[in-house]
Amino acid sequence: MPNSAPSPPAAVLSGLAGCVPPRVVTNDELAERLATDDAWIRTRTGIRRRHVIEPGQATSDLAVEAGHRALGNAGVDSVDAVIVTTTTPDRPCPATAPTVAARLGLAGAAAFDVGAVCTGFVYGLATAAGLITSGVAGRVLLVGADTYSTIVDPLDRANAIIFGDGAGAVVLRAGRADEPGAVGQFDLGSDGAYEDLITVAAGGSRKRSTGDEVQRSERHFAMRGSEVYRHAVTRMAESARTVLRTGGWKIDDVDHFVPHQANLRILHSVADDLGLPRERCVANVDSVGNTGAASIPLALADAVAQQVIRPGDRLLLTAFGGGLTWGSCLLTWPELPLPAHPYDRGEEAPS
Ligand code: UT7
Repeated sequence: MPNSAPSPPAAVLSGLAGCVPPRVVTNDELAERLATDDAWIRTRTGIRRRHVIEPGQATSDLAVEAGHRALGNAGVDSVDAVIVTTTTPDRPCPATAPTVAARLGLAGAAAFDVGAVCTGFVYGLATAAGLITSGVAGRVLLVGADTYSTIVDPLDRANAIIFGDGAGAVVLRAGRADEPGAVGQFDLGSDGAYEDLITVAAGGSRKRSTGDEVQRSERHFAMRGSEVYRHAVTRMAESARTVLRTGGWKIDDVDHFVPHQANLRILHSVADDLGLPRERCVANVDSVGNTGAASIPLALADAVAQQVIRPGDRLLLTAFGGGLTWGSCLLTWPELPLPAHPYDRGEEAPS
């Protein structure tokens, strides 16, 4: 009999949850303090509301809640590693993941942050999969969490309308590559030549905090919106095509395209570019805005809770963000207990 070596373990998704803070900010509320209006925001972005944390709350508060729910969804109370992916850590040092791990009763597990701005969840998924397939960890909790309300200038109308706060989490376990839920094919990329398109300029080692006025404005999030928009459409479509080619999938094999929820027009443009019917594009940006690294797991939690995504469905996840960074992943949705719906969608169906 030929000697067949056991195949290396694959990372299999085994738990999912999302969470947003209770406070809702509508477009009308923003229009009370900014020169904007509900019609402009809806037409340009598809967003009608977003959730924001209260003063005193931080990213780890959302990450802990999402992590707690995801562990419950997976039916486990221990993991070997906790990864938090965020652009809005509780503080520059130390990383947020050890705090999250300790508050979840997971002290002792490896814990570290991954930074890839809005692509963070896909990068985090690849990192978690690497820990599992290399045998370093048997089970990983991955949390995407962001509180952009803490870094966006509340008077910057272009950015204040887009972002919302939230967290989404998944549990991954060692399993087989042919199981539903196995995360296999990835495409990851970056181009730092465009580092200035999405940035918080000060507060790091290049522009250290000195407390003067210029520094204060440079500590806010800045984005060259229309240039980012063009890159987002091109790079997401390219990344999606690459991962489909690597995985041997055709566009018709994709039951649900789950993109980073940047802006509804961007999502639809990417779907159109790929030749994917728009109804196969999962979109919840209308209810939560752009939640950064949380956006893909929050969109998944929303669609799975509503049973739009069902076991056996084939998913294409694609993200894009500052860096520039981009990434995609293919997976078949596994059988999981239904997660609680992470938020009330409001009275109005998305348009
Ligand atoms: O998650 C990371 C990736 N980020 C994104 O994907 C965001 C990508 N970018 C976008 O979503 C869009 O660029 C925005 C929503 C940020 C802006 O939409 P746009 O259609 O690209 O507008 P624009 O920046 O080209 O600005 C058009 C006009 C400008 O006025 P003038 O110069 O033509 O008089 C802006 O000042 O719209 C103005 N404007 C607004 N007007 C009303 C910008 N923001 C607003 C606003 N309300 N909130």
